[in-house]
Amino acid sequence: MLRKTRIIESFSIDNMIKDLEISEIYNAVKEKTIKISMKTEKGIFTASAPSGSSEGEYEAKTLDNEIIIKNFPEIKKKFIGKREKNVERIIEKIGIEKIGANLSLVLSIAAIKALSKDNIYKFLNKKSNIFPYPLGNVIGGGAHKGYTSIQEFLVLPVRAETVKEAIKINQSIWKDVGKFIKLREISLGNNYEGAWTCKLDDVKSLDLVSHIAENHGARVGIDVAAYEIYKKGKYYYKDTKKKLSPGEQLEFILDLIKTYRLLYVEDPFHEDDFKHFSELTKKARCLIVGDDIFATDSKRLKRGIKKKAGNGIIIKPDQVGSVSRTLNTIEIAKKANYKTIVSHRSRDTTDTFIADLAVATESPIIKCGIHGKERTSKLKRLVQIWNKVKKPEMAKINI
Ligand code: PGA
Ligand code: ZN
Repeated sequence: MLRKTRIIESFSIDNMIKDLEISEIYNAVKEKTIKISMKTEKGIFTASAPSGSSEGEYEAKTLDNEIIIKNFPEIKKKFIGKREKNVERIIEKIGIEKIGANLSLVLSIAAIKALSKDNIYKFLNKKSNIFPYPLGNVIGGGAHKGYTSIQEFLVLPVRAETVKEAIKINQSIWKDVGKFIKLREISLGNNYEGAWTCKLDDVKSLDLVSHIAENHGARVGIDVAAYEIYKKGKYYYKDTKKKLSPGEQLEFILDLIKTYRLLYVEDPFHEDDFKHFSELTKKARCLIVGDDIFATDSKRLKRGIKKKAGNGIIIKPDQVGSVSRTLNTIEIAKKANYKTIVSHRSRDTTDTFIADLAVATESPIIKCGIHGKERTSKLKRLVQIWNKVKKPEMAKINI
C-alpha cells in the first residue's frame, strides 16, 4: 500500500495554528503569570509559565507580563497560519530573550501539546515506561520563606514500587512532620512550595525530616541554594550565626551527608564554584546536583562535565525557554552519566508539562513538591501516564 505523501501532509490544515490568545493567571504565590492558548484544528492547547524565587544569574531572561502583553499582537502575527512544528524555529529566529523566556517557553510547550494532542510523553518517546521518583519538599526556608538558611529539606521514597505508592509515602512524611511541629507549637505554616516552615534551625530540621523519613523507608536530601547565603567569600547561616569559608562549607556538607546518609545534595556551593562542586563529588557517595550552576544551559553543563563538577543536573525548562533546548541539555547530561532531575519552580502553576518530560526522558527523579495544587497536578499527571503505558516501572537510582 502507498504511504500518504509528504505533500498532502505539509498542506494539511491540521498542523496550522489558527489562533493564539494570551491571558494572565495566578501562580502558587498568587502573583500573575502568563498563559497561552493555542488554537488548532485539533483543539485548544494551553501552557502557563512558572518562575523561581532564587533565580540564578545564568537563566534565560524573562520579560514582565505587561511588556509581553503589549508586544503580543505583533508577535502573534508571526505564528498564525504556521505549522505547530515550526514554532520553535520561529522563536529562535526572533530570539528567546527578545520574546522573553517565559513567553517563549509557553509557546514552545503549547506547540508540543498540540503536536502530540496532549500526549507529550508518547510523542517524545514511544517506548517510555520508566517513571521518576518524586522528590518532595517537606521543610523549607531560604528564599522560599521560612526559618532555615538551607532552602529545602527533601525526601525520596526509594523503596516505592509504583508512582502511586511513592506519592503516598511522601504525603505521609509531610503529614507526620506537620503533626509533630504543630503539637510542639513551632509551626509557622507552609511556604511557597507547600513545605512546612517551623522554628527549627537547619540541623534540627534535617534531624526531624530524616527521622520521620526513615520510619517510612525514604531517603533524605537537601537543596542548599547556596548562592542565596553566599556573601563576599562566605556562607552565612542565620540561625546559628555560622559563617563558613568554601572549604569549611565542604566539610559541613560532607558531615551532613555522612550523619544523615543523604542521597541528594543540590547547590551546596554558589553558582560559579565548579572547583568545590568537583571536590565534593569526588569525596561523597551521594547525588551532587547542580541547579543555579548549570541553569539547564548546555554550555555550562559541558563545562561542569569537563571539571567533573556534580553527577546530577536540575532540569528547569524555563531556565532556557524552550522544549528543544531543554531536551538538548538532557541528552548531553545522559551521555555524560549525569542524572537528570526534572524540576518545578517555587512560583509554579498547575501546568503538567514537566511530568511528561520526566517520563519521556526516563529521568530518575522529578522534583515537584508534595502539597498544593501546583505540586499535585504534576503528581496526578504521573499517575495518569502510569495507567496508560505498558509495563510501567520505577527508574533505577544507582550512585
Ligand atoms: P526556585 O527554587 O524555583 O525558587 O528557583 C527551586 C530550586 O532552587 O530548586
Ligand atoms: Zn535549587
